[in-house]
Amino acid sequence: MESFFNHRETLWALLIAYLLLAAQAAEAGDGRRKARSNIILILTDDQDIEIGGMTPMKKTTSLIGQSGATFANAFTVTPLCCPSRSSILTGCYPHNHLVRNNSLDGNCSSPVWQKFQEPFTFPVYLQKQGYQTFYAGKYLNQYGDPKAGGVLHIPLGWTYWLGLVGNSKYYNYTLSANGHEETHRDRYEEDYLTDLITNRSLQFLTQLSRPPFLMVLAPPAAHSPWTAAPHYKSAYSSIKAPCDGSFNVHGKDKHWLVRQAKTPMSNTSIEFLDNVYRERWQTLLSVDDMVAKVLDQLKSLGLLNSTYVFYTSDHGYHTGQFSLPIDKRQLYEFDIRVPLLVRGPGIKPNRTYLEPILNIDLGPTFLDIAGVDVSQTPMDGQSFMPLLVNKTNNRSWRSDFLVQYTGEGRTGGDPHCPALGPGVSQCFPDCVCEDAFNNTYACVRTLSPISLQYCEFADAQSFVEVYNLTSDPHQLLNVAKTVDPSLLEQMNQRLIKFQACSGASCRS
Ligand SMILES: *[C@@H]1O[C@H](CO)[C@@H](O)[C@H](O)[C@H]1NC(C)=O
Ligand SMILES: *[C@@H]1O[C@H](CO)[C@@H](O)[C@H](O)[C@H]1NC(C)=O
Ligand SMILES: *[C@@H]1O[C@H](CO)[C@@H](O)[C@H](O)[C@H]1NC(C)=O
Ligand SMILES: *[C@@H]1O[C@H](CO)[C@@H](O)[C@H](O)[C@H]1NC(C)=O
Ligand SMILES: *[C@@H]1O[C@H](CO)[C@@H](O)[C@H](O)[C@H]1NC(C)=O
Ligand SMILES: *[C@@H]1O[C@H](CO)[C@@H](O)[C@H](O)[C@H]1NC(C)=O
Ligand SMILES: *[C@@H]1O[C@H](CO)[C@@H](O)[C@H](O)[C@H]1NC(C)=O
Repeated sequence: MESFFNHRETLWALLIAYLLLAAQAAEAGDGRRKARSNIILILTDDQDIEIGGMTPMKKTTSLIGQSGATFANAFTVTPLCCPSRSSILTGCYPHNHLVRNNSLDGNCSSPVWQKFQEPFTFPVYLQKQGYQTFYAGKYLNQYGDPKAGGVLHIPLGWTYWLGLVGNSKYYNYTLSANGHEETHRDRYEEDYLTDLITNRSLQFLTQLSRPPFLMVLAPPAAHSPWTAAPHYKSAYSSIKAPCDGSFNVHGKDKHWLVRQAKTPMSNTSIEFLDNVYRERWQTLLSVDDMVAKVLDQLKSLGLLNSTYVFYTSDHGYHTGQFSLPIDKRQLYEFDIRVPLLVRGPGIKPNRTYLEPILNIDLGPTFLDIAGVDVSQTPMDGQSFMPLLVNKTNNRSWRSDFLVQYTGEGRTGGDPHCPALGPGVSQCFPDCVCEDAFNNTYACVRTLSPISLQYCEFADAQSFVEVYNLTSDPHQLLNVAKTVDPSLLEQMNQRLIKFQACSGASCRS
């Protein structure tokens, strides 16, 4: 008996000594940011940065951007919701997570995804580090489908789960609340999804959270059907889509899908896209309120100095660029660039960074904050914390990256535009199609020494588009036929290398 007690006391003494040492090491080793800071990610849907998408975000710009870092060169590695969100969750390029499109058979939230990819998403690693994790809003477009487990399926890694069934909606939707179906109709006070996410997030912060925690808020704005909150329905009444740059310009030297657009666009198309442009901004005002309320709550709970807040979107958007009325899915800047703002402990206020940051860097950055070694995971991206909190100047960062897209099509063609034949999709309004099976491409985007984009299409022509963005920021001139062929050769080799990369080889 005696020896048992002695032994136990020794164990206790050792344990306490260990805990003290561990705490000291955490303080000393990483004083600039408290070990295990909280992490909040606010992820919008379809919000561009190139055509004014951040203009309505006055509070967000001030409370996150001017109080922290603004990344002027943030990109998605694939400009479509489900593949992009899958890249954010896994930290991987599409050729490694294998989510090709927004359908179950393209692996969007499919049983195969659940089995092979969900176990490697960032919340899983954070949970293992002792984080409490909370998700509210749109997840992956096919989430909740009966063929993929329905609302009973709670993706791995989430302590508290409030996932939207299906694609973005503002009213009349179903949620999975920790595996229980919760339906909402169309009363503003009870159902407007952006506000509901805000309310549940505040509840989480005040009632449930204990540090360290991860909170992801994914509002439906600014995705279709662009339904504004009642008090914002008349906002921006005189705002129209900007008509500069490539607006209403025919992409005459581009891939066939872009060439089929009608220039000038019809008046009905322009009227349609102007309305969409205004309604997108209206829906974003509720997200701006969300950001202000969340930060206000953090402040009153004394959590502002121990919480990182990230703000970004899944991809960009266009309204009339190259005469394509409305959508994403294209390789151009307006579709692949996204907003990215970050504030938190150790981050200097009101600084702009020019390094290219990718959506696959978010996961690695969260892991870094939580003290997980990213090189021990399958993630392709790279933590950008060192850029934000490192005092040394000799930081190394990528200068180029890969963008991949697999076109969505319809074998029977678009039922509203039968004359267009099979394979195309998204042909509204006015039968201008925004996607097709062979709108499938891969690009290398280089930021320095010059700003360059090289893209190859997987179509019968192996069509190539090349842009010198230093001299041609709006990508008006495809120089594929006029540049030095050795440059094409060099870029082609870089592309082949990128398309075979995984983990560390994507970072070198
Ligand atoms: C879906 O994922 C599985 C396994 O992760 C893979 O075998 C399959 O090829 C993927 N499907 C597509 C269309 O890429
Ligand atoms: C609400 O959604 C259900 C199911 O998706 C649909 O059947 C119904 O028509 C919708 N109601 C309204 C008012 O949009
Ligand atoms: C959110 O909370 C506010 C304040 O309590 C309330 O007025 C509003 O109706 C709630 N909205 C939703 C959609 O839950
Ligand atoms: C289209 O709009 C332009 C400029 O607003 C106008 O001049 C023209 O008459 C309109 N065309 C049609 C067919 O309505
Ligand atoms: C964080 O802020 C709270 C409340 O403002 C304060 O009590 C605490 O000392 C601060 N902690 C650090 C590490 O600065
Ligand atoms: C942030 O910096 C810009 C210039 O880069 C300056 O105009 C602005 O006043 C600054 N804002 C704050 C809040 O410091
Ligand atoms: C999604 O990808 C799958 C697998 O490649 C394909 O069968 C399906 O047709 C694609 N869906 C669309 C809408 O393109």
